[in-house]
Amino acid sequence: MKRKVSYLKLIVPRRRGLPVRLALLLIWLSCATAAWWLAGRCGRALLPPPPPQTLDHFRRNRSLKSYLDNITVLIEPSSTVCSLSRKVEVLVLVTSSPQRFLQRQAIRATWGKHVPTYFVLGLDGPSVEDLMVDNFVEAKAYSDMIVFQFQDHYQNLTLKSALMMQWTTARCTEHLEGMMLFKTDDDVLVNPWILRQVLEENSGKDLVGYKKLNNYLHRDEYNKWHLPRWLYRQDFVPEYLSGTGYLIKGSKLSKILNTAFEIPIINLEDVYFTYVVSKARLGYTLTHDRRLSPYKPWLPLECMYWGLASMHSLSPNEMLNAWPSIRVLGEKYERGDAKCRYFVDNIWSELYLY
Ligand SMILES: *[C@@H]1O[C@H](CO)[C@@H](O)[C@H](O)[C@H]1NC(C)=O
Ligand SMILES: *[C@@H]1O[C@H](CO)[C@@H](O)[C@H](O)[C@H]1NC(C)=O
Ligand SMILES: *[C@@H]1O[C@H](CO)[C@@H](O)[C@H](O)[C@H]1NC(C)=O
Repeated sequence: MKRKVSYLKLIVPRRRGLPVRLALLLIWLSCATAAWWLAGRCGRALLPPPPPQTLDHFRRNRSLKSYLDNITVLIEPSSTVCSLSRKVEVLVLVTSSPQRFLQRQAIRATWGKHVPTYFVLGLDGPSVEDLMVDNFVEAKAYSDMIVFQFQDHYQNLTLKSALMMQWTTARCTEHLEGMMLFKTDDDVLVNPWILRQVLEENSGKDLVGYKKLNNYLHRDEYNKWHLPRWLYRQDFVPEYLSGTGYLIKGSKLSKILNTAFEIPIINLEDVYFTYVVSKARLGYTLTHDRRLSPYKPWLPLECMYWGLASMHSLSPNEMLNAWPSIRVLGEKYERGDAKCRYFVDNIWSELYLY
C-alpha cells in the first residue's frame, strides 16, 4: 500500500525544527516570486513593441504660443457665415485631415447643409504635395476648408483645437458675444435641430458637452489616449467634456486661448482645454448635456437618432444612410409636427439616465 504524503510535508518537512521549516518556506516563496516575475518579463517580450509615440515634439517645446506663432493659414474661404450674416448663433468647426475626403463629402451631403460648418485640417506627412493639390481644388469647390501649415497628426489635435479658437476669434470678432463655437469631428453625425435645442437651453453657459467624470489617465503605451507622466503629473481627471463635440461660448474663447498660453500643452485636447485650462485654471463651469453624445445609438431607430444632437464614430456610409429619416423628422419638427416626443421624453431618458 502506498502511503499518501501531503504536499505541504514535502515542501516543509515535519521532522526538522521550526526555524528550518520557516527558512524552507521562505525559499519556496522567493522561488515562486522569481518565477512569477520572469513569466511577466517573458510575456512582455512576446508582445509587439508599443506603437511609436510621436510625442517627441512635446519634449522640444510645449509652449502653445510658440507653436501658433509658427503656423500660418494656407487656405481659407474668402467669405464665411461670419462675414455674410448679421446673426450667427453657432459656428461648427470640424476636425478633419487631408485624406478624409469621403467623410467631408458625407457631412456636406447631410447635416453640413443645415448649420454653418467648416473643416479644419493640417498637412499630411510624406505625400504633402499630392494632397495639397487635391485639398486646394476641394477648398475652391466647396469654400468650407481651413488648412493650416502644420503636420496633421493625432498627437497634434491640441494644436488644431487651438487654431480653431484662434481662427474664430479673428474671423468672427463681431459675433463672438452672441455665438457659440461647436468643435466636433468628421465621424460625428450632428442633428442640427436638436443642436439648436441644446443651444437654446444652454444659452449663457461657458462650456457645454458630454461630461466625463472621475477618469484615470491612460499611462500604458499601447493605448491610443496614452498620456505619459512626463507630460502630465496627476493621474486623475475629475471632469472634462468629451472631445467628440463640445460648445464654447464665443466671448470666452480668447480668455481660454490666452490662459492656455501660460500652461504647457498635452496631447489630449479635450482634457487640456476643458479641464486643465477652463475648469481647473479659469474656474469655468462645464455643463453636461447628454444629447451631445460621444456614442452612437445601438439600434438604428428613427426616434433614437432624434434624441441626440450628435452621434459619434459613423462611417461616411452610415452617415448617409441615417440621414434621410433624420431630415424627414427635422422637416416635420419645423412644421410643428413633433414626432418621437413620447419616446424622447419618456423612454429615451429612461434608457440613458446620465
Ligand atoms: C519654447 O518657445 C518659447 C516661445 O518661443 C520660448 O520662450 C521657449 O524658450 C521655448 N522652449 C524651448 C525649450 O525651446
Ligand atoms: C518656431 O520657429 C522658430 C524660428 O524658426 C523656431 O526657433 C522655434 O523652435 C519654432 N517653435 C516651435 C515650437 O516649433
Ligand atoms: C505637430 O506639429 C508640429 C508643427 O508643425 C511638428 O513640429 C510636429 O512634428 C508635429 N507632431 C507630429 C506628431 O506630427
